[in-house]
Amino acid sequence: MTRPLIIAPSILSADFGRFAEETRAIEAAGADWLHLDVMDGAFVPNISFGPGVIAAVRKVSQSPIDTHLMIETPDRYLETFAEAGADRITVHAEACPHLNRSLMAIRALGLKAGVALNPATSEEAVRYSLDAADLVLVMTVNPGFGGQSFLPFTLEKITRLRALIGDRPVEIEVDGGITAETAERAARAGANVFVAGSSAFKGGAEAYHANIDAVRAGAQKGLVAG
Ligand code: DX5
Ligand code: ZN
Repeated sequence: MTRPLIIAPSILSADFGRFAEETRAIEAAGADWLHLDVMDGAFVPNISFGPGVIAAVRKVSQSPIDTHLMIETPDRYLETFAEAGADRITVHAEACPHLNRSLMAIRALGLKAGVALNPATSEEAVRYSLDAADLVLVMTVNPGFGGQSFLPFTLEKITRLRALIGDRPVEIEVDGGITAETAERAARAGANVFVAGSSAFKGGAEAYHANIDAVRAGAQKGLVAG
């Protein structure tokens, strides 16, 4: 099965004072999805933003909104994020004791369902969720902050996950420390969705196009080789 190559810039690295402009600029620069990182200061040691920001981005953008919930008890907020305008919601396996139920609840809201794995969590955590999920997000850094370095040991997990998924229509997304170089390695291992925070937003709006092109070119190289 050929999977599309998706670049999903993370708004976490945008200028928080100019979300609307930044959203328009990164979209015009070639973003396929917009990745929105919601952090609660409990599941991860940082607080970012909530449904209000998703709604604000929705107002200025037609792109798919890929919502990454790094929060405890995400089940309580699924409807809120759906109403705010999310197209996809990803919950963490570590935050969901009833993961199958959580994924089904996301789909019941008419959205695509994703499950995320922290670096220390095995791919086995999603073995029995693959028919209920549209996407598995492999964290390639410990979640909480942008600008961290890619953890190479996560590549083996991507390879194993790709084998577990088999022919199912499930995307593998990588998130954290993604550059042209790490996108190539992750693509070779089996990823097809690439979140880029600092590498997409570096250098100001005039650089966004080249930044996205560079990550896409790296990923493309890996997909061909993989
Ligand atoms: C990390 C977030 C990421 C982050 C990526 O906890 O989930 O989406 O914004 O940022 P970079 O690409 O800078 O590592
Ligand atoms: Zn993320």
